[in-house]
Formats: sequence, C-alpha cells, structure tokens
Amino acid sequence: MIRLICRENDNDIEFMKKISAQGEWSTRLAFIFAATGSAVGLGNIWKFPYITGENGGGAFVLVYLLCIALIGVPIMMAEILLGRRGRQSPINTMRDLAKEAGAKPYWRWLGWLGVIAGFLILSYYSVIAGWAMAYFVRVSTGVFEGATADGVSSIFGQFVADPEKLLAWHSLFMIMTMLVVARGVKGLERAVRFLMPALLVLLLLLVVYAMEQGDFAQALNFLFSADFSKITSESILTAMGHAFFTLSLGMGAIMVYGSYLPDKVSIGSTTLIIALADTAVALLAGLAIFPLVFANGLEPSSGPGLIFQTLPIAFGHMDYGSVFGGLFFLLLVFAAWSSSISLIEPAVAWLVENKNMSRMRACILSGTTTWLLGIGTVLSFNLTADVRLFDKTFFDLLDYLTANIMLPLGGLCIALFVGWVMSRDDSMAELKMKRPLAYGIWIFLLKYISPTAVLIVFLNVIGII
Ligand code: TRP
Repeated sequence: MIRLICRENDNDIEFMKKISAQGEWSTRLAFIFAATGSAVGLGNIWKFPYITGENGGGAFVLVYLLCIALIGVPIMMAEILLGRRGRQSPINTMRDLAKEAGAKPYWRWLGWLGVIAGFLILSYYSVIAGWAMAYFVRVSTGVFEGATADGVSSIFGQFVADPEKLLAWHSLFMIMTMLVVARGVKGLERAVRFLMPALLVLLLLLVVYAMEQGDFAQALNFLFSADFSKITSESILTAMGHAFFTLSLGMGAIMVYGSYLPDKVSIGSTTLIIALADTAVALLAGLAIFPLVFANGLEPSSGPGLIFQTLPIAFGHMDYGSVFGGLFFLLLVFAAWSSSISLIEPAVAWLVENKNMSRMRACILSGTTTWLLGIGTVLSFNLTADVRLFDKTFFDLLDYLTANIMLPLGGLCIALFVGWVMSRDDSMAELKMKRPLAYGIWIFLLKYISPTAVLIVFLNVIGII
C-alpha cells in the first residue's frame, strides 16, 4: 500500500507535517485502488440488494443515490482532507487539527467514535465474509448443480443454523484480515488492482445472464420506478446510513487512507471516481440479483441471505456455473478482505502511535477483541435468533447502531468541523481546487446541505419532526 519514506530529519516539524510516519502512497492510482478497495465490498454486493429489497425498491434507490451525491461525496472529500492535513491516526489528527483551528480538544472523540464503529462493523462483517468463503467452496464443488430455488434456500437455512461452521469461517476471515494488517497491506493492494476489475467483469456477465434468464423487466421496474408510498422515515435513515457504509465514511477509515495521500493529488476528482465506481458496482449487483429473485418467485425482502439464496440458482444452471460461481464468491471474498483491513486500521494506527505497541501486538489485541464480538453475530443467526431487543437480533442491532447511527453521526461531525471550525483558507489550501465554483459548491453542500439533511433524517426517525 504505502512506500515507506525515510525520514532523514525527524526534528524537522514542517517535514513531519507533510508525510505521515507510516509513509505515503506511491501514486494517485494507488490511493484510488486502495480507497475503492475499501469502499467496494460486502456493502455493495451483499447489503445493497437486500436492504433495497426490504425497503421497497425504486424510491429507496433514489434516496440512496441522492444521499451519495449530496452527503456522501462532500463528506468523503472532507474526510480525506482531514486525513491529509493531520497525517496521523484519526484520534490524533482530530486532536491536532482542532488545536490548529483554535477549537476545543473534544473533537478527538470523533476519532474514538470511529475506532469503536470500526470494531463493531468488522465483528459482523467478518461473519458475512465467512459466508462468502463457505459459498466459494460450495459453489465451486458443484453443490448447487441443477438446484431449485427451494433447494438453494434450504441449503442456506441449514448453513446459518450451524454455529460451529459460521464460527470456523469467521475465525478464518479474521485471521486473514489481521495477517494482512500486521504484515503490511502491499501485497493485497497489488492483488486488488486485478481482482476488482475482474469482479466488475463477472458482475457484468451475471447481469447479462440475468437479462436472458431472469425477469429483467420486473427487476428494472422494481429498482428504478419510485413508489414513494413505500418510503418511511426508517427507510430514509437506512438509505442514508448505507451511503456512509458503502463509501466507508464517518469512522476514520478514509481519513487514515487520506493521511497517506501525496500533497499534489486532487481530492475532488479522486473522490468522484471512487464514488462512481462504488455506485456502479452496487447497481450492477442489484441488476444481477433481482431478475433472479422475481423469476424464481423469491421474496425481495428475504434479508441478509438474499444473494446466497439467488445467485447459486443461476450458477447451478448456467454452463460452467461452478467455475463462474466459484470465481464470483472468491472475488467477493477479496472485495470484503480489502474493505475489512480499513475497518481495523484506525484502531491499529492509534495503538501503534499512542501506546507504543508493535504493529503485531496491536493487531493481535484488536483482532481478538473483534473476533470475540463476532461470536455474538454468529449466534444471532441460530441459537440466539429469538433473543431480541427492540425486535432486533444482536446482528440487526449492531448493524443499526453502526450504519444508521454512528457513521452518520461521525459524518455530521466531520462536515461541521471542516465546514464551520476549520478556516476557509485551510480547507481551500488543502483541496487545491482550480475552479472557485467547484469549491463554492462543495463548501455550500458541506456547511449547509449535508449536516441539515443528516439532522432532519435523525430528528424524523426520533419523531421530533
Ligand atoms: N465500504 C465497505 C463495504 O461497502 C465496508 C467498509 C469498509 C466500511 N470500511 C468501512 C464501512 C468504514 C464503514 C466505514 O462493504
């Protein structure tokens, strides 16, 4: 990921300011691949389709796209900007930038919020990534050959009912993640450069298959014709929360990546590329999955199992299905892998910086904590499925708390800090936008539109407005 730059003169404060202690991306493209690697993951292929199904389709998709454009993109630019200016882990970055702006040191709590959100998200993310690994094995060994929709659903049901299996896969994925974080992410970053485009090609192929074999017309109708009667304040919150989740925003992941960004790279255009790529993958996943949902009489609202109950039907029937299917789940695992490392990196970076820990120890400590928490999610699909709080299982609660509350809250604080606390000169200098109009639009969105939108959605859900 990063090329270590030798610090010849440690006392030179100006120099330290410019380059993070951990190094710097070698090129702009390296950053784009890493940030896209973080953004594109289970959120796009697993979560987006099932929450779209649960929230009625078209209108939800529209709200989600609006959230990406009006809230996600401006806040992403702000988060990268903070990272590049602070050049440290999010907690220390926020502490120092608050000082620079003459504000109270409490802003560092934003960094803490992010570290905690990262732990919580990774704990269940790893369990679902484990499902994808298990499905890689099943699909490529031909388990689904000729399977019916019912057969595929019952295989899924049996799988998640088995806590030991889920735990084994969850453990394996956590080990994979921590190995990469401990030993440096260079190898994975290099692999992601080929694997992400491959995932895109395979998704396109699936869309073509779904066009021919599935009910494409109904899927298009479901995804793109907006029926606002299906929208509730909760579904707007879910759409907004997902905009943060899918772009990896609001918890310092992109801030950490920004802290390794060379000074000359334009933050605005880079952000647009990442957001477009991320959105394209999500929409393609929807176009691949929903035609199969409708053609096979499945429920769009079947929840977290949706892709595991639809795609295997396609792979079970197409020529070379076990090859394509195996490849698809393998690439999904890689997409999840390159996302998971960014969820834990803020915590690890902080432990290394502030607690003087070796990277290895920091990884073992944070990895074990996350793994333990993940057991709660494993059990929530079987043994404790009936244990509910506010009608939600442990997994549902974690997902709701992180994606719908913590990330938007983190994003709100980022928008307020960069829009209102940081001086205009500083944000302008950091963004280096050539067109004053572009800067004007961005700062307007960040100061007024994004925070107001987040607040209105929050207040609406609480029932105040
Ligand atoms: N964006 C990733 C996905 O869509 C998940 C993710 C990685 C994430 N890093 C994050 C979500 C940081 C929130 C914050 O799968």
